[in-house]
Formats: sequence, C-alpha cells, structure tokens
Amino acid sequence: MSNNAPIGMFDSGIGGLTIAKALMQRLPEESLCYLGDTAHMPYGDKSPERLKEYAVGITKRLMDLGCKAVVVACNSASSNALDEVRAEAGPEVPVIDVVRPVVDWATLHNPCGEFALIGTRATVQSGLYDRLFSAKGGKVTSLATPLLASAIEEGFHNGTISNAVVEAYFADGWAAEKDAMLLACTHYPLVKDEICAQLPSQVVVVDTPAIVSERAAKVLSECGARASVKTQPHRFEVTDWTQAFADGAAHILGTSVDLFEVPWSEIQ
Ligand code: DGL
Repeated sequence: MSNNAPIGMFDSGIGGLTIAKALMQRLPEESLCYLGDTAHMPYGDKSPERLKEYAVGITKRLMDLGCKAVVVACNSASSNALDEVRAEAGPEVPVIDVVRPVVDWATLHNPCGEFALIGTRATVQSGLYDRLFSAKGGKVTSLATPLLASAIEEGFHNGTISNAVVEAYFADGWAAEKDAMLLACTHYPLVKDEICAQLPSQVVVVDTPAIVSERAAKVLSECGARASVKTQPHRFEVTDWTQAFADGAAHILGTSVDLFEVPWSEIQ
C-alpha cells in the first residue's frame, strides 16, 4: 500500500475529531479519512455486539477507501471491538486504539499513581481499563458519565449546561484525592475546562489526543508507512448529515469542512 494513502479514523460523532486535530498537528504530511457514525450516536449506550457490528462495517468502508492504517478514535469501540477491527483490517494494516497508549503512558509516567477515569457506560462496563491498569500494577477508579457525550455532540460545551452536567458527576468529590484524571471518551476534551474547574489543581488531566497521536506516529514509522508530503485533502464522512456535526467539526478544527453523507445501508 502506498505511504500516501490516508489514515482512516472513526468515532460515533465529533469526539474523534479531538484525536484528528492532534494527528493533523503531529503528522501534518498525512491525509485523514474520518468517519463519524452519527446514525448510531451515542455509542456509549450500545451493547458490545452492536459496537462490534458498527466497527466492522466502518473498518470495511475505510479499507474500501484505501486507508493504510486505522485509528479507532473512540473509547467505546476501542474497549469493545478492537479485535474485530483488527480482523477486518487484516494483518498488513496497523490499528491504533485510544485505550492502550494512554494506559501505557499513565503507568510509565506515574507508576504509583491513583487514577480517576470518566467514560461512557460501554467503556466503563467493558472493564478494559481496570484489566490493563491492574496488569501493570496501577490503580484506576472509573465512573460512567453517560449524559456527557450526547450533550457535547449537540454543541453543549463551554456553557451552563455542560457545566451543570460535569458538576453533578463530580459533586461528591470522588476524584478529588486522585493524582490524575483520564478522559476515556474522545468527546470529553471539549469540556476539559469544565472538568478542571471541578478538580483540585493537583489532579492532572491527561492529554489523550497528544498521547494517541504520538503512538500513531511511532506505529507508522515502525511500519515504514509515513507519508513524506501531503498529497490529498482530508476527507470527512458521516452516516447521517447533522448540523451538530458540521458545527462541531468547525469548532474543533477551526475551519468548516466538506461533509459527505454515506448512509449506513451503503456501508453494511
Ligand atoms: N467518543 C466516543 C468514545 O470515546 C463515543 C461517545 C458516544 O457516542 O457515546 O467513547
């Protein structure tokens, strides 16, 4: 496969664009092909079986588009459907998830640390973070925060509604004694300021997009698959065209994007 082929990425909606933005900064010569599965948003409330079905369909689409790698820019899919994505992508195509790079980073940089984590129900209920942390002797306390991703997708960030939702999830002070906070949903960096406002200053909020983009750069380099110069524009697809996605993408990326709708019936 050509090194100039795009990197495929997906999430249920705009959340994965927080990873896309970091990738654009870290690897400006790479072209991205992003698929937001807005028809099935939110992923966090779906069963593992549904998440596997969606992830496999999207990976097939990304392979049809000739992507050279897949970044699963979604914690819910990374926690429940990574093996299926790898099987669909095949042995030649590197797959980067958003869970393992962060656990590796956290346990390397603060091996004795006590970590707090917020994520979707699908991510927290998978137990993957707990298993990976305990395999490395680390400790994590997780809370599912199911209202957040949908509120953010609808444009409720940096305002009174997102503030109130975040405040409610931290009201009993469960995270105040921890060393660091993991935002285990790619939508959550969009309410990072609100989250920081609820935590004492010693609780560091881990920068997942930067860590994942660094891992992607490393994996592509190891495979000899890095592009040397950008040859094609980024492509953005959704399974259901929504104004919320268009507005969210412009907010995150700082520029409006051409958004192509590819209905799920064409992906299956
Ligand atoms: N941004 C996704 C994640 O990281 C999905 C959120 C959702 O659709 O519920 O889990």
